[in-house]
Amino acid sequence: MSEAPNYRPETLAVRAGQERSQFGEHSEALYLTSSFVFKNAAQAARRFSGEEAGNVYARFSNPTVTMFEERLAALEGAEDCVATASGMAAIMATVLAHLRNGDHIVASTGLFGATVQLFSNILARTGITTSFVPQTDPAAWAAAIRPETKLFFLETPSNPLTEIADIRALTAIAHAKGILVAVDNCFCTPVLQQPLELGADLVIHSATKFLDGQGRVLGGAVCGPRKLTEEVFKYLRTAGPTLSAFNAWVLLKGLETLKLRVEAQSGNALRLATWLEAHPKVARVFYPGLPSHPQHDLAKTQQKSGGAIVSFEVRGAREQAWQVVDNCRLLSITANLGDTKTTITHPASTTHSQLTAEEQAGAGVTPDFIRLSIGIEDIEDILWDLSQALEKA
Ligand SMILES: Cc1ncc(COP(=O)(O)O)c(C=O)c1O
Repeated sequence: MSEAPNYRPETLAVRAGQERSQFGEHSEALYLTSSFVFKNAAQAARRFSGEEAGNVYARFSNPTVTMFEERLAALEGAEDCVATASGMAAIMATVLAHLRNGDHIVASTGLFGATVQLFSNILARTGITTSFVPQTDPAAWAAAIRPETKLFFLETPSNPLTEIADIRALTAIAHAKGILVAVDNCFCTPVLQQPLELGADLVIHSATKFLDGQGRVLGGAVCGPRKLTEEVFKYLRTAGPTLSAFNAWVLLKGLETLKLRVEAQSGNALRLATWLEAHPKVARVFYPGLPSHPQHDLAKTQQKSGGAIVSFEVRGAREQAWQVVDNCRLLSITANLGDTKTTITHPASTTHSQLTAEEQAGAGVTPDFIRLSIGIEDIEDILWDLSQALEKA
């Protein structure tokens, strides 16, 4: 018999990581248990010391969480994955596992609002400082490097402006100085972009978004080589923001349909972005899949498609943007993204409201700006809803 091939992503998404119990269940089991029993005291001692591999306590590991970690690692092409309670917990764990008081981060101005808050307020209190530079200007990243710089942190496409960072170029700059590169791959997922293959050291996920894809649970993950994820694991098992078994089970099921969903969502997004660009009440559309996007050519070299997030500026100010939001009858007014249901958000007054006016301007979050996360509804129905909402604005 011929050897099993290197299974393709579609196969890995439904098969990788599954560990069957003695009951032979077909679907992955949900192990709702906070601790694990040992055969005897000697085994307990071996497990605690790490001499024997195995589960001890769910803050350290749980078989359902392990299945999710292995499946996501397989999809990202990573040696290892460590799951966390949320995307923010994944970012916090990555930084605290690898940096200490006095260290420095270079990150982009266009990061997700809570990430900016985490870096500039919470981590700054621990003596870890951050310089924010434009996402699309590799020279600015190089110029911001200090002797104490330990991490480049990027998110591409950025939230909500969909600016593209050149992963290959930034990785080359960082690696020349021994600096780690972490990429938040939330918007693309491994279906559209594999940052490790492009040279990054670590990939971070808010699994809450496309990996779940149905708006049910919070979760996060850090993927990369074991020598780097090991430090993240050590932080998690002590500090505690681990993924719950229930959430891991939901996310495992989410991964099974990830490709189908993301491809359908991206197809709808391209149709919608093209339509918005021609709409008289729309001043500007931000979508990496459109030739008018400033980094469209770069996006094509590292992403398989433009993704499912489309942002635009309505002609007018906050009032007109709020009118579009309020007049939608099908789209959900909610801050989450990556859902099978299309969502509409006004970032300046919600997800990015904690930023100063200067930070908002740096992130391109103007009062007339709207972010859409496109779902899998029929595109004609999404177009109808936005068409009638724009008419009233
Ligand atoms: C790009 C990006 N990274 C990280 C996060 C944080 O993830 P979580 O809400 O799971 O903590 C979000 C949430 O919206 C996000 O959009």
